[in-house]
Amino acid sequence: MIIAIDGPAGTGKSTIAKLISEKLNITFLNSGSFYRGITLALLREKIDIKDEKKVLAFAEKLNLDYVNDHLILNGEDVNHLLHQDIVSENVSPVSSIVELRHIVNKKLRKVTETQSVVCEGRDITTVVFPNAEYKFYLDASIDVQAQRRFNQGVSELSLEEIKVTIQKRDEMDKNKKEGSLKIAEDATYIDTSDLTIEQVCEIILSKIHI
Ligand code: DC
Repeated sequence: MIIAIDGPAGTGKSTIAKLISEKLNITFLNSGSFYRGITLALLREKIDIKDEKKVLAFAEKLNLDYVNDHLILNGEDVNHLLHQDIVSENVSPVSSIVELRHIVNKKLRKVTETQSVVCEGRDITTVVFPNAEYKFYLDASIDVQAQRRFNQGVSELSLEEIKVTIQKRDEMDKNKKEGSLKIAEDATYIDTSDLTIEQVCEIILSKIHI
């Protein structure tokens, strides 16, 4: 079984997907982790992210694993490094590279060969798992998105700066050549602005029949 969740940054997708996975005892698959892990590796090696050929050649050689909700990069658990500002600033352009998306999509699909998953991202309901049994699109107002990211306490930016960076990133994510963020026709749309995490989980779980 595949439960697919898409939506912009700061809509609670990861927290909600994780909770749903725990309730249903299935795997939580955070697709953004893969793009963030690749971005982290590129930054560490000081590879110019605008040089698509170099980025691809480098990404193809990376050993990316996903174990117990954690991204493992060449054997190192890098999960705690994935939400640094520097990674967040660079991840959207990296994830715009079409061939790189194909590498990530293959890895995501591989996980579902053996496991049921709740997978969240931007193109999960539309491109990666268009045949998912359950599809959801989570949305929120920009002020709520920014406040949620600010409250996570992982950024060194001010609330206003976070708002600007989220707006920029969402804009980029909605305008990608492939895998852009859009609402699948058959997805349940949920505006989470005035809902708690628990309320969103309840709505999602009420639609799932195992
Ligand atoms: O969900 P997140 O904020 O961790 O995602 C990080 C970036 O990766 C985001 O800017 C968009 C990109 N991404 C993507 O292009 N496709 C996905 N399926 C998931 C994330």
